[in-house]
Amino acid sequence: MNKKRVFSGVQPSGDLHLGNYLGAIKQWVEMQEKYESIFCVVDLHAITIKQNPEELRKKVIEIAKIYIASGIDPKKSVIFQQSDISEHAELAWILNTVTRMSDLYKMTQFKDKGGENENIGVGLFDYPVLMTSDIILYDTDVVPVGEDQKQHVELARDLAKRFNHQFGETFKVPDVRVNKEGARIMGLDDPTKKMSKSASSTLNYIALTDDPEKAAKKIMKAVTDNDGIIKYEKEKKPGVSNLLNVYSLLNEESIADIVKRYEGKGYGDFKKDLAEIVKQFLISFQEKYNAISDEEVRGILTNGAKKIKPIATETYKRTKKIMGLN
Ligand code: AMP
Ligand code: TRP
Repeated sequence: MNKKRVFSGVQPSGDLHLGNYLGAIKQWVEMQEKYESIFCVVDLHAITIKQNPEELRKKVIEIAKIYIASGIDPKKSVIFQQSDISEHAELAWILNTVTRMSDLYKMTQFKDKGGENENIGVGLFDYPVLMTSDIILYDTDVVPVGEDQKQHVELARDLAKRFNHQFGETFKVPDVRVNKEGARIMGLDDPTKKMSKSASSTLNYIALTDDPEKAAKKIMKAVTDNDGIIKYEKEKKPGVSNLLNVYSLLNEESIADIVKRYEGKGYGDFKKDLAEIVKQFLISFQEKYNAISDEEVRGILTNGAKKIKPIATETYKRTKKIMGLN
């Protein structure tokens, strides 16, 4: 039986943090055993916001290294850079012609990024169409993402269906997979908002490249409440619940077990232990990260693109043909 195919990606911009790891990359690592997996560094998405060219080049390598250090095995999964395969942008153009302005105005990420502003880039508005292209170009079955990207994958489903309806069966309609627990890791300084690389304070997030000692201090400083009881109650105790979530995911232990162990103990003990877990996680992660050379990563990206280019070419040809373009 043929394996089902997975596709996902992360933008090479800002610092990758624990939210990206627990919400997205960690589940990719688990999925690569069962699925034919393709993981992309989406540089064409990153340029929807102004980037410094030299930094962008470095960031692409950094993200690919993070994939590998997290456990994505280039022998099992394809890792590649989006702009290496021209069909992503080409198919996005075609998809633009079946997308309505009203589809894109509904996207909450666009609204959050300043959709009201007349001077906002057209690329930012069109971002979900390029994402649709990424996904359906490879006949993807499943797209594992964090909660915030769910709406975009739903749009990809709608556009694929609409195109198929208009022109005839062309694209596979992808399913979205949101990891329940890691789906939304919240900010350490404000647990009512998601952990984000664009947060104004670096106390908000733990970057995967953070100094482990400093990261431990961020956990100690994380905002909680002051009733001193360690239990999971998302609405009433967002700070403690978020820390429990992180603890549970990093230590691969259920929240119920953790809560039981800290019965009668205070936040101090709990935070100290979690700080140590985070510190050890980062030490081990960074050891792997530092063992990979830039050269090696460039080779992996080039090979990755070579390997999947034929799939992209085939899908794009099929699309052009059905539309009467060749
Ligand atoms: P981005 O950093 O926006 O490129 O996101 C990369 C991946 O990480 C996407 O699948 C996001 O849904 C996921 N992600 C980003 N922030 C968080 C968060 N705070 N909690 C869980 N997942 C997240
Ligand atoms: N938009 C996604 C994010 O910010 C990244 C992304 C681009 C993506 N193309 C994709 C994720 C295709 C999954 C599938 O996180």
